[in-house]
Amino acid sequence: MSDARNAHNIRTVETVGIVGLGYVGLPLAATFAEAGLSVVGVDNSASKVEALNAGESYVQDVSSAMLLDLVSSRKARFSQEYEPLQEAEAVLICLPTPLDEYREPDLSIVVAGVEEISANLRPGALVVLESTTYPGTTREVVQPILEQNGRREIGDDFHLAFSPERVDPGNIGYNIKSTPKVVGGVTEGCAALAEELYARVVNEVHVVSSPESAEMSKLLENVFRGVNIALVNELAILCHRMGIDVWEVVDAAKTKPFGFMPFYPGPGLGGHCIPVDPFYLSWRARAFDMSTEFIELAGRTNVNMPYYAESRVTSALNAEKKPVNGSRILMLGVSYKPNVGDLRESPSLKILELLARDGADVAYHDPYVPELPDNGLESVELTEGQIEEADCVVIATDHKVVDLEPVVARASKIVDLRNAVRNRLGAHSLEDLENVEIL
Ligand SMILES: NC(=O)c1ccc[n+]([C@@H]2O[C@H](COP(=O)([O-])OP(=O)(O)OC[C@H]3O[C@@H](n4cnc5c(N)ncnc54)[C@H](O)[C@@H]3O)[C@@H](O)[C@H]2O)c1
Repeated sequence: MSDARNAHNIRTVETVGIVGLGYVGLPLAATFAEAGLSVVGVDNSASKVEALNAGESYVQDVSSAMLLDLVSSRKARFSQEYEPLQEAEAVLICLPTPLDEYREPDLSIVVAGVEEISANLRPGALVVLESTTYPGTTREVVQPILEQNGRREIGDDFHLAFSPERVDPGNIGYNIKSTPKVVGGVTEGCAALAEELYARVVNEVHVVSSPESAEMSKLLENVFRGVNIALVNELAILCHRMGIDVWEVVDAAKTKPFGFMPFYPGPGLGGHCIPVDPFYLSWRARAFDMSTEFIELAGRTNVNMPYYAESRVTSALNAEKKPVNGSRILMLGVSYKPNVGDLRESPSLKILELLARDGADVAYHDPYVPELPDNGLESVELTEGQIEEADCVVIATDHKVVDLEPVVARASKIVDLRNAVRNRLGAHSLEDLENVEIL
């Protein structure tokens, strides 16, 4: 424990504040509360706060039963107000970091949140930014706001670090505890405090020398994914043109035990992270007279994928002498990844929009997404009638709970954008699956 913290009568963190209770903040709040810390969660959404205080979770990775237990035992409290943060020795920021209409970083939500935190921060407390952002945000944007309200000395009046969130919603293989946490403090003391805090809930904490390194490490991870997905998407288009099965190619390449990591093609990027975060870096790079070519190229390739997916549906219908206009299309899965209901930046929505624009009669089935109000659609039951009525079934997201056997047995045409049929129903060769077109 630093002398500075002792001076402020903070021996250890007993109460942790979490600001932003979404996909990132809520699981983090639940994890700290389960570890025995008192948790104060803040979110500006009245409906979310009300649901949480009633023990109702809206995030799949946090069960309502567990939440109810944490709320009724007062281990976790949730509020729309920032005042309760005055009790917290540490405040973790899990607020959204979107792009604005010009696809440039929009830190307005983080700035507004930090201003509130600054007005309610306990002397000597630790603040950690977890939101994904460009290198320099913690020191250049967050620190000056915390230095207001009479605080002068970082490492004394307050502490500040960046620790990127790595949660992968729906991933049952890795959770907060088993995923190493990277931490970079503005001072060594700040890093040490953040390390000590996270070590209470995470098996491994990896400390780097600065917040900038920690911020950049998160962007490297996401750019790495975006670039590699773009690479395999481009190869998928080429393989189709050359009559080569790209999925077989990736499976073959991944038998190499070193120097290769498999990525799979698909209808495009989705979620709040991979389509958005790299542009935080390319924006920042411009201030250093750099253009990040890999990011731009990968972005172009991935953004094109829903259009390519629609063209595959069009040509599948064409092979049946059917135009898109007037054809019934049943899409399976509209969320951006399997087994969750997250629609953010989902390429399925773009494909539905393109098909509807071209006159298709579109419908969808997704057990995790009951309705798409913006598209005027509700999820239909996956009945024999719906399958048979469709001129083409498009598998856009491979939810494990969707039974593909009746689909393969009854659909006149399937465009499988995820190689789901072969993955789930056994290793058929392409010839065995006459009614299935695979991306
Ligand atoms: N979702 C992921 O898988 C994931 C993974 C790693 C990192 N991240 C990063 O974590 C950050 C948060 O992402 P998320 O997916 O949890 O977002 P989210 O939209 O699910 O949650 C953000 C929450 O903040 C609340 N909020 C908005 N403005 C507020 C304000 N002024 N005060 C208080 N609350 C406010 C919203 O109501 C919402 O509940 C982002 O920077 C994101 O890039 C997300």
